[in-house]
Amino acid sequence: ILAQVSTKKGQTFHFGSTYDTFEADQSWSSSIFSTFYRHVVSENGCKWDATEPSQGVSDLTECLACQSFATANGNTFRGHNTFWHSQTPSWLPGSFTAAQVTGTIIPQHVQAEIQGMGTSVTSWDVVNEVVGDGVSNGMTPLQCVQNKGDWPTVTADGSGKALVTDLSFIYAAFNTAFKFAGNSTRLAVNEYNTGGQNAKTACILSLVQNIQQNTGIPFNRLAVGFQSHLSANTGGFDTKQALATTFSTLAAEGVEAMITEMDIELNSNTQANLRYQAAIWGDYLDACLYASNCNEFINWDPRDDLSWRGAAAAATLFDTNGNPKPAAYEVAARL
Ligand code: XIL
Repeated sequence: ILAQVSTKKGQTFHFGSTYDTFEADQSWSSSIFSTFYRHVVSENGCKWDATEPSQGVSDLTECLACQSFATANGNTFRGHNTFWHSQTPSWLPGSFTAAQVTGTIIPQHVQAEIQGMGTSVTSWDVVNEVVGDGVSNGMTPLQCVQNKGDWPTVTADGSGKALVTDLSFIYAAFNTAFKFAGNSTRLAVNEYNTGGQNAKTACILSLVQNIQQNTGIPFNRLAVGFQSHLSANTGGFDTKQALATTFSTLAAEGVEAMITEMDIELNSNTQANLRYQAAIWGDYLDACLYASNCNEFINWDPRDDLSWRGAAAAATLFDTNGNPKPAAYEVAARL
């Protein structure tokens, strides 16, 4: 009953969701990823703790299994993520200096993962959540990243400051990704609480410029991932006009914009709220469908009982029985 959202003006449109091999209802997953979702992201299986559990030993088992699931169901696959302060392996931070993290540990890790997953990955979140929440307009990219408070999880000096005296750890990740990714794989900076015209979005836009200037990677290989973990009842979302403005700024440079982790928390699971949720989902999908540079749209968790926001938040397109909610019909109708 639900159409597949697989084309946009005649070209491939990558509309999908997260998947993990240990999800209980595998038959539902196979069915929904072969009839509705068209694109797969591993929810946790490609993160650093999963892919390099011992230093220097690459283990892509779960990440590859998710990619195989995508292929088996006729879906494409995107990579999330090569660098994040969270879900890092237990050996990190060890007794490493910032120079070792930037010069050796990050390049080795990014190479092993991106090379190991092959060239068909549509896009990689090369760095995830590197900008702070307390940023203000006019900050330099370095200030935006220094504003983030989580760096002690990846560097050894305890204060975390050593890693961010400059942005070389980000350039190292991007340079390595560019070297080993497929020729048309997009390399993304992925971030939450971004989309409309706010200071964090401004940081992300200037960070992409800065990465291009310092790595020489062409703009048409770069992307910004807008996570879009939203809340309906508190106004925690942007209008499609606000999104369109940001997306077109990136389009002018040749940078892609992607909705990478969409979900919408409700404060209660009423019919009125479900309708409101559907309307917001429709706006985000419209903003992406009507932008020339938005070709990937990922829903974070395929159904409410699998949602990282908790089943009570009713934050996804399908209910706890796997049945489509108003938002699923809304999305299907926007084709
Ligand atoms: C979440 C997963 O959904 C959870 O299963 C896990 O326990 C924690 O991470 N931003 C991201 C994602 O970039 O990787 C996070 O995923 C959700 C927030």
